[in-house]
Amino acid sequence: MRILFLGDIVGRPGYSAITSLLPRIRQERELDLVIANAENAADGSGLTTQQFRGLIAAGIDVVTMGDHIYRKLEIKPTLQSDPRIVKPANFPAAAPGIPWTTATTRGGVQVAVLSLLGRVFMRPVDCPFQAADRWLNELPSAVKVRIVDIHAEATSEKQTIARYLDGRVSAVLGTHTHVPTADAQILAGGTAYQTDVGMTGPYDGVIGRDFDRVLTTTVTFEPLHFNVATGDVRICGAVVDIDPKTGLATSIERFEQAVHED
Ligand SMILES: [Fe+2]
Ligand SMILES: [Fe+2]
Repeated sequence: MRILFLGDIVGRPGYSAITSLLPRIRQERELDLVIANAENAADGSGLTTQQFRGLIAAGIDVVTMGDHIYRKLEIKPTLQSDPRIVKPANFPAAAPGIPWTTATTRGGVQVAVLSLLGRVFMRPVDCPFQAADRWLNELPSAVKVRIVDIHAEATSEKQTIARYLDGRVSAVLGTHTHVPTADAQILAGGTAYQTDVGMTGPYDGVIGRDFDRVLTTTVTFEPLHFNVATGDVRICGAVVDIDPKTGLATSIERFEQAVHED
């Protein structure tokens, strides 16, 4: 079976790219399931309820988030009730949202999805390793296909978590840093891994934001609203083929598609 995992959808450019192009990509690439990180969809920070519905309608089966999860708090009732979106599993129990979910492909294969936040250079959260172990203990053993979004800043932390989970999950795919890394691989135990699958959004900027304002704030320390950039929009992610019997990956390849505006 084949899964497409898309990195952070950034702003209107990223959102529009998905709603206009994903239905065709899904068909052309014969995808069984699409998972996307959408923490930056709403003007670069958060996700609105309307956008969530739009992403689902475009063919995304499960949405993961990240450190910007609550920036548009109107999403809270959706987070609490809709099984197609998860909060980071190592957030406190009181934080709104469900810690993991499963989706079923049209072929009847159950796919479990977990989102983890890193702890290096990020706001303190619970241990992602222990959260992953709790999840694996709770998961019915019949659910073999297991996808983990590791939303973290440090490459080393992402690699450590991937190797810790190697052989126990189908894929560990990185988000948050917004730049695709050239290390898509299958680890020794059969888990697919990429440090960052890259954002779905405008690459002509600084991780999806307008360069001028980022530069001004960096140089002068004046806080400015960072506008979402507009140029060089790309849909980025990873396509992972998985043996549904074992839950292990048979291939991983980077996915990148330029969005041509006309
Ligand atoms: Fe992000
Ligand atoms: Fe993030």
